[in-house]
Amino acid sequence: MVLPIYTYGQPVLRKTATDIAEDYPGLKELIADMFETMYKSDGVGLAAPQIGRSIRLVVVTLDVLSDDFPEYKDFNKAYINPHILETDSSHTELIEEGCLSLPGIHEPVRRPTRIRISYQDENFESHDEWVEGYLARVLQHECDHLEGRVFTDLISPLRKQMVKGKLAALLKGKVRCAYKIKTGK
Ligand code: NI
Repeated sequence: MVLPIYTYGQPVLRKTATDIAEDYPGLKELIADMFETMYKSDGVGLAAPQIGRSIRLVVVTLDVLSDDFPEYKDFNKAYINPHILETDSSHTELIEEGCLSLPGIHEPVRRPTRIRISYQDENFESHDEWVEGYLARVLQHECDHLEGRVFTDLISPLRKQMVKGKLAALLKGKVRCAYKIKTGK
């Protein structure tokens, strides 16, 4: 089932999300619904707060990048209870980001290129690994959602000033996009 995506101004996007247990009701269907919602809206990542649930659950699909990055062929993965444990700040990159919760806004964000993340997979097996490159970028963006942050919080004061009008319009629910949304208005 395709779920509506909560947009900027929805209070759930500003909450700190909580870990979930293996018996979280309807978890399998929820993960399937989040994948379907992400595919339908052409996103590469989706965090549970974006569909109105303040829980630590993220889905990522990078298959769309596999022409340039063969290692991402068929990469579709759910991250349960992800936590970024360390970031390697010795190397950062400034890359343009967008967000399904902030339609129409694309801004460069500086982030470390390597992070250490812990999470459980769909079988609730625990993992603790270093990831890098585009995946590290997407996971940082999605884990920000779990801390109540959105990517425009991280842009320069000058750029922030430049997107002020767009953010204000989003708060008023003045949004037009190709997928189903639920505005804060
Ligand atoms: Ni986002």
